[in-house]
Amino acid sequence: MSIPPKNLCRISETLWNHELFSAPPDYSEPLHGLTAEHVDTHLRRLRRMPSTGDDTPEKALAGLQKLYERQRSLLLQAQAESLWLASAPKVVLWNQLRLLLEHLPANPTPSDVRLLDRLTPLLVKDQLIPRAFSPDARISELLEQLATAELILLDRLARTTLKLRRPYLKQLYRIMADALDYNTTADTIRIEPVLAWIKTILPQNSSAAYADVGCSVATGAKNTILAARVLRPEYCGPLHGIDIVSPSPALQSAMLREHRNLLYQANTLLHPLPRRYHIILLANVHRHLTRSDQQQLLTHLACSLTEGGHLFINWRFDQRRSPCLFLQRRNQRLELITEHNAI
Ligand SMILES: C[S@@+](CC[C@H](N)C(=O)[O-])C[C@H]1O[C@@H](n2cnc3c(N)ncnc32)[C@H](O)[C@@H]1O
Repeated sequence: MSIPPKNLCRISETLWNHELFSAPPDYSEPLHGLTAEHVDTHLRRLRRMPSTGDDTPEKALAGLQKLYERQRSLLLQAQAESLWLASAPKVVLWNQLRLLLEHLPANPTPSDVRLLDRLTPLLVKDQLIPRAFSPDARISELLEQLATAELILLDRLARTTLKLRRPYLKQLYRIMADALDYNTTADTIRIEPVLAWIKTILPQNSSAAYADVGCSVATGAKNTILAARVLRPEYCGPLHGIDIVSPSPALQSAMLREHRNLLYQANTLLHPLPRRYHIILLANVHRHLTRSDQQQLLTHLACSLTEGGHLFINWRFDQRRSPCLFLQRRNQRLELITEHNAI
């Protein structure tokens, strides 16, 4: 845990025991040692995204499937052109695996079983399967393990064969980088009860500055429009939507023109916001971050509050549980005042 310097706002330790902060996500370790898994973990750490958008796995898999298919044909081609490569033991093993996978029928013949028996110790030795197949393994399990072994071997060959290595790694990196998106699920209906409760707590102050951090610019920052409708003119004046994703100039100017809301990009994991706010809303954002990043985020948001300013933290678990915490900055401390189930 990073300790905030003395001039930064301190956050009450008890906060971390609240259910809103239970079981934070973390980075998963590669399961099969595939290069794609390593690149995925590396990029997630770099971008501080233990959790991603719902489309990320599908996007990554679609790109990877094409890439692996291409490596298979390039490897066969390179093999045909090079006697040395064709006789390399790993390439021979990969070829046998590939053919076995292509031909292994639902009811294996005695010769299929003999080939499988011959390959099994090699697959175990190269850590392509964890152990020899059990005699009563179902054919579907067998095929799944063989397919994984073929993929691991293909990945190792593409990564180490001089002719394939560079373009393979480059394309793989691009696929994983493009697939990784922030979770931008946004919903005005779930925010309505949050704003209704906020309104009951806030003192009337038409010049208070309000910030919605993680306002989902990717889906049009609609909660800032809702906030303007609910809170203006009695409870706030300037109303800003902030996100780690940059808003397009078109969205920025339409929002300003039609709703007087300012949208801008900021990375709240690295810095406090560029100005102070009287009210900050953080809804459905923090549980996408690791515990240490949650701590950074809250420290930076606390620093972005005026003295006496309010921070609301919400997470909607389901239809019946949507806790919203009301915290206040008092004498360089961020303290929990009260909470409400905003459903
Ligand atoms: C799940 S959406 C929540 C949207 C909206 N607040 C709601 O409750 O419907 C999370 C949003 O937080 C943004 N985000 C993620 N990390 C962030 C960070 N460190 N600072 C600001 N925004 C962040 C994402 O880009 C995304 O738009």
